[in-house]
Amino acid sequence: MRAVDLIRKKRDGGALSGEEISFLVEGNLKGTVPDYQLAAFLMAVYNRGMSEEETISLTKAMAAPGRNLDLGGIQGVKIDKHSTGGVGDKTNLVLAPLMAAMGLKMPSIAGRGLGHTGGTIDKLASIPGLRTDVTGGEVVEEIKNVGFSICGQTGEIGPVDRKLYALRDATATVESTALVAASIMSKKLSEGLDALVLDVKTGSGGFMRSLDEARALARLMVDIGNGAGIKTVAVITDMDAPLGRTVGNALEVKESISALKGRFAPDFLEVTMTLAAWMLHLADSVSEETTPQRLSEHLLKRYRDEAWDYIEHGDAFKKFVEFIDARGGNPEAAFNQGLLPKALHIKPVLSPWNGYIKRMDAFATGQASMLLGAGRATMEDGIDPAAGIVIGKKPGDAVRAEEPFATFYTNRPETLAMAEEVFLSGIEISDREPAKRKLIHEVILPS
Ligand code: URA
Repeated sequence: MRAVDLIRKKRDGGALSGEEISFLVEGNLKGTVPDYQLAAFLMAVYNRGMSEEETISLTKAMAAPGRNLDLGGIQGVKIDKHSTGGVGDKTNLVLAPLMAAMGLKMPSIAGRGLGHTGGTIDKLASIPGLRTDVTGGEVVEEIKNVGFSICGQTGEIGPVDRKLYALRDATATVESTALVAASIMSKKLSEGLDALVLDVKTGSGGFMRSLDEARALARLMVDIGNGAGIKTVAVITDMDAPLGRTVGNALEVKESISALKGRFAPDFLEVTMTLAAWMLHLADSVSEETTPQRLSEHLLKRYRDEAWDYIEHGDAFKKFVEFIDARGGNPEAAFNQGLLPKALHIKPVLSPWNGYIKRMDAFATGQASMLLGAGRATMEDGIDPAAGIVIGKKPGDAVRAEEPFATFYTNRPETLAMAEEVFLSGIEISDREPAKRKLIHEVILPS
């Protein structure tokens, strides 16, 4: 078998067997298939797509035995939530300690920022002292002792995804249904999960722009998850506007800490609590050995209220502090946000007109935040943990001309003008109050 023949086959629209796909990804890990051939393969997949069978083969090749967390000795339902990526999406910083406080176990293999989207690992890395390079053994200990772990892909955990993630980012091949599905589901298959909630983002700031594309990705991942014996559902949520009031790493950690203390922006609350409710429902389905069903309004509220209790009484916050401590971070940072990285240059962005914010484009906001230093153009670039945007007014809010409605934070003042231009290109202000945005679009259940 030769890599060049397999690339040609995919380039010309052929389907690859499981063995052929393994040859490419394992070969890359072993050093017999160079990165440039893997990159060409990714572009061929991006252009030609993959059948469901090929996507499952790729997922399995990426999650091959030997790369899995061994949670066998840990009591309790193991559950995770994974998002397809968005702007301002910090929900796992709240959901992981919340689920742990409620007695569930949440292993979470996450990623760094991809394209214009943020990454949970970059967010965590902004906490002073906190280590993000952990071993599989440490992850297992954390899950046992704290109740959750959030770790990035390493040479040991998710090594193929680590490589593909970086190559996709650098070769404009991120937005592929097959590649997103395999990237996410290979990590989830490696976690030893009982249940999984997928947050599939739709809109300008997600990788799936249309609802139809999001539905197709959600169905594919839900089928892969359930096919592998993990009770899996997907919630399709809105990513046309950034989530919450912050975009950028330390800023999002600050917002998450406030949320863990019970202070949420309304859209962040709605999305986080809906996902929490589905996680609790799935955990019950595992314990009761039932198939997850559509939640009635009554049941949804009951689960949300149950979860809220653990926020209100400070249990979820305590778990987050415990996690920071276990990871070598400074737990004081959760109490004194002044200990988190601060930017030297702060600039308010003024509203150009009177009216209501009709649109705050998530992609433009993500791009502006990257320009300020919160994201990287290539995987080798450093990021500025303090950089980003605080959103004072959200879509639907009234603004007056010249009123500050967002604030930029950066240590690279030369980027401010360009970032403002990009951010404002995504803002629409109208005379009339816009209709309320739908945040939760659909739920995809097991087939
Ligand atoms: N999250 C992932 O883990 N992988 C992707 O490809 C996109 C979002």
